[in-house]
Amino acid sequence: MKKSEFSFQRIPAPLLSWYQQHKRDLPWRENPTPYRVWVSEIMLQQTRVEAVKEYYARFMSALPTVEDLAVCAEEKLLKLWEGLGYYSRVRNMQKTAKILVNEYGGEFPQDIALLKKLPGIGSYTAGAIASIAFGQPTAAVDGNVFRVAARLEENPTVISDPSYRKYLEKELSAVYPNTKEACSAFTQSLFEVGALLCKPQSPECAVCPLKELCGAYLHGTQRDFPVLPQKPPKRNEDVFVFLIETPQGFCIRRREEGVLKGMNEFPSHVIKNGETAENILNEWGMYEFTEVKRQKYTHIFTHIRWNMTCVWVKTDVAPFDAYTVGEITETVSLPTAFRQCLGALKDTKQDEQLRIDV
Ligand code: ADE
Repeated sequence: MKKSEFSFQRIPAPLLSWYQQHKRDLPWRENPTPYRVWVSEIMLQQTRVEAVKEYYARFMSALPTVEDLAVCAEEKLLKLWEGLGYYSRVRNMQKTAKILVNEYGGEFPQDIALLKKLPGIGSYTAGAIASIAFGQPTAAVDGNVFRVAARLEENPTVISDPSYRKYLEKELSAVYPNTKEACSAFTQSLFEVGALLCKPQSPECAVCPLKELCGAYLHGTQRDFPVLPQKPPKRNEDVFVFLIETPQGFCIRRREEGVLKGMNEFPSHVIKNGETAENILNEWGMYEFTEVKRQKYTHIFTHIRWNMTCVWVKTDVAPFDAYTVGEITETVSLPTAFRQCLGALKDTKQDEQLRIDV
């Protein structure tokens, strides 16, 4: 099939009927209010459905309304997001919640142009809220949808090309069904067929409702589409992370710069030419300490790979604020890169206070 022969017009009918039979029971599909759809879509960016479910339930029970999110204390909010990463997502969500409360009476605007003006809401999220919650004919193009669409028409455009997103939004929005309920279902059916059948490595074409229309299936070119951008190699950084144990607990401070800026950390330092752990501790005014243990970890960020040496030391005088293990577990937010260092405590026989579940 040549690209010109393909028409998106033919996909809604088979896709909607397949979706009715095969859709997953997902928590955000119950009572899809704009708020519930928004929270789920932000969480689902960069995070798997299975991993999101638990976060979603916890978030919704702690902050069931836009108003609750708008006034939530930052530390509590970051704790609810802890482990999901990309923390600017939740910071933007709170900014948006405040705008909704102050300027829109706590409601989401239905106009997609107004939705897109809200912090953290781009054309994907705006399209998802407008179609899933408001039943408007507006496509939401995420990675799943790019994959399905690129295979259907064997489109050779690299998916990072902004004109490709615009093109797909236009083409797909033009074929939306004519009821609110079906518009909501159509957006979700595209996600669903991408997630369940049109998978990146092993598409299940035999049972796909779109196979007769699909150029990639007909020509056996599934692996050639979508065309992904070349990823730049990750920069390596060697990092010391210090578990500084004091009589008051373990030191934690706010990161002032670099990746995870503004988040809590166990005091850390990117190692430059031959610096030792002792050098760094001295710089922080620590001269009297006992080293207990070192353990290596790695953590992968979007552009950086951290080769971490976690150094556990004991000292009597805390150079930064200290928190008990109970506080660190229950109330202090700590990104996964640092939280994994608590494993060093768990793997070592310690007194009662340190026997914790991490
Ligand atoms: N991926 C992105 N959005 C989704 C949704 N609403 N349901 C399932 N998977 C998704």
